[in-house]
Amino acid sequence: MTPFTRLFRSSVGKKYLLGVSGLLLSLFAISHLAGNLLLIQGREAYNDYAAGLHSIPGFLFIEWGLAAVFLVHIAIAIRVSMENTSARKRSYSQHKMQTVGKSAATMKYSGALLIVFLVVHLLNLRFKIVPEVMVPNATDFDAVQHLFANAGMVGFYVLMCIVIGFHLGHGLQSSLQSLGWYHTDVTPKVRSLSFWFGLVMAVGYAMLPLYVMFNYPV
Ligand code: HEM
Repeated sequence: MTPFTRLFRSSVGKKYLLGVSGLLLSLFAISHLAGNLLLIQGREAYNDYAAGLHSIPGFLFIEWGLAAVFLVHIAIAIRVSMENTSARKRSYSQHKMQTVGKSAATMKYSGALLIVFLVVHLLNLRFKIVPEVMVPNATDFDAVQHLFANAGMVGFYVLMCIVIGFHLGHGLQSSLQSLGWYHTDVTPKVRSLSFWFGLVMAVGYAMLPLYVMFNYPV
């Protein structure tokens, strides 16, 4: 058995991997938002940023690495959630069942929505398949501008970004707790940091489609 398989099989190992992959994805979410905020500066700044990103040596490896972290995170989350469900069926403690069940259930549903969002989002902006318009040789700015000219897509993105903010906020709290930040004096700080992180992510991402729709009409 490889050390990774052993880590993946033990319940402490799974929590640890879920926490570490969650923190890495949170770092990605912060840097992705920071880059996308350049939309506010306009076409040139945004396209320069996108071109700079693509010219990083080994960019493709970074993308595959990111995809691997997403896949590990999703695989472990599904596994842990299935184990929690079967443990709950055996549990006699009604109170425990309700509290553990609630937060796990909301993370499960917001996580599932996040996967749907990511599939649509990658088709739209990574592969530049934007409804109604096919922009030949589209730059990243063109693709974003055409995507958010569609009110339905703007609504979808805004709703999903709020769900993602919620998932990231709750996720940061559980990641930090899984990694040992769980004491009477630390827990309130972790909770408040996670709340603000989720809120900033939700508002930051959700305002972008609206900003583009109102400021850069096609
Ligand atoms: C709502 C505002 C958003 C905009 C304008 C936006 C824009 C983009 C663009 C233009 C790309 C393609 C980059 C490339 O050409 O390589 C991209 C890729 C990606 N986005 Fe977003 N994004 C947004 C929100 C999100 C959110 C909320 C997430 C999830 C947390 C996310 C996750 C990703 C991932 C995983 C990729 C593929 C990795 C990459 O190519 O960099 N995006 N996004």
